[in-house]
Amino acid sequence: MLIKNIAILASGNGSNAENVIRYFRVNKAINVVLVITNNPQAGVVQRANKLNVPCKVINNTMMGDSIQLIALLENYKVDFIILAGFLKKIPDTVIQQYENKIINIHPSLLPKYGGKGMYGINVHKAVIKNLETISGITVHLVNENYDEGKILDQFKIDVKPGTDPEVLQREIQKLEKEHFPSSIERYIKSY
Ligand code: GRF
Repeated sequence: MLIKNIAILASGNGSNAENVIRYFRVNKAINVVLVITNNPQAGVVQRANKLNVPCKVINNTMMGDSIQLIALLENYKVDFIILAGFLKKIPDTVIQQYENKIINIHPSLLPKYGGKGMYGINVHKAVIKNLETISGITVHLVNENYDEGKILDQFKIDVKPGTDPEVLQREIQKLEKEHFPSSIERYIKSY
């Protein structure tokens, strides 16, 4: 079995990043070799440090410079990239270089509630405002258009009328913890 290396890119709290790191500690087919963030204040930095995974902070200049970013990824022999709450756009050259090898998680059932501005609590507020009766998560490949790459997996939950957006957010986060790592594993192993 050939071990695949992954890098996780995250801008925020990093609870999914931590969950993915822990999952692949036990399950050794995939190795989390690097965490990248654009935000030195983000919770994900502490989480990566605590778990002894190298963490690189990249600034806007570096984010816009595909050559530097690709060099960093190649330096760590990264085979696949996982986006876990990464709020910056991935440069097109990186997307082309890692075609079908960048996986994102989105906290709605895409194509609904994706695209610009649809992140964090905004997603769940919109779902409730539109009286949706189901919501869920989408694991998908990343292409040049926000939230539009091929869908790999979706997992659903019922939404009761009048649910508080924060309650829905917590339920969605639970669903992410339950499914994101195994979804990554399935895709990479079948690649
Ligand atoms: C998750 O809800 C994920 O769906 C979205 O960003 C959020 C990241 O949360 N893409 P965390 O930083 O992993 O806690």
